[in-house]
Amino acid sequence: MPRLDDRLKAVARQIRCGTHADIGSDHGHLLVALLKSGRIRRGIAIENKPQPLENSSRSLRGLNAEVRFADGFAGLSVGEVDSASLCGLGGETIVRILDAFPDRVPDRVVLQPNRRPEWVRRWAIRSGFHLMDEQIARGHWDYPVLSFQRLGSITDPAYGGLDHEAALLFGPLLMKRMPRLVHDRLAEERLYLRKLQRLGPESAARLRVIERVLSAAPAAERS
Ligand SMILES: C[S@@+](CC[C@H](N)C(=O)[O-])C[C@H]1O[C@@H](n2cnc3c(N)ncnc32)[C@H](O)[C@@H]1O
Repeated sequence: MPRLDDRLKAVARQIRCGTHADIGSDHGHLLVALLKSGRIRRGIAIENKPQPLENSSRSLRGLNAEVRFADGFAGLSVGEVDSASLCGLGGETIVRILDAFPDRVPDRVVLQPNRRPEWVRRWAIRSGFHLMDEQIARGHWDYPVLSFQRLGSITDPAYGGLDHEAALLFGPLLMKRMPRLVHDRLAEERLYLRKLQRLGPESAARLRVIERVLSAAPAAERS
């Protein structure tokens, strides 16, 4: 059994189904852990580079899994899997992969962007996916782990009553819970941005949002 780091453990906790595809599987450890723990019956690893493909093949040998060389969902057919994960990639890349074959994306997806999670949240809103769970896993950085379910065109209630810009950047469910970790990270980022002599337009906008969030945030859960 491979030892998953906290990031992939948080992802694994969100997955339980018949057939699961891990896009960008690299070492293949997520699928190995899901198969060995019985959380899935069958796994499909998708890779678009030779060395990671070989890594996945080696890790998954002897298990109920297939390893495919493909660009994202090009390696799957419609309805082939119950759920899919994309982990350890930037938000822009995750969205590009999801948008390339929208009809092949299963109803349940677990997405772990390393940066720009707001891209993933925007994709979900325009694609009819609702945010079911949102965690922060600690590691080299703080990693958001986002679970979505396709529910069609109705508005995602997760965003109700929130500052929309802040919810897109920092997560609607996290904004409602405001765990200590998120509160403290926002306070650290505010301090850092306030000290900068010159802010570009994106950083200035981000600082404005952080100021708004922190002035309204009770840091309720504090865990
Ligand atoms: C940083 S690694 C992350 C590995 C693993 N998912 C994790 O989170 O530990 C990203 C992997 O995604 C693969 N990848 C990137 N774009 C891809 C695409 N369009 N289709 C399939 N695999 C892709 C890369 O080859 C690489 O192995």
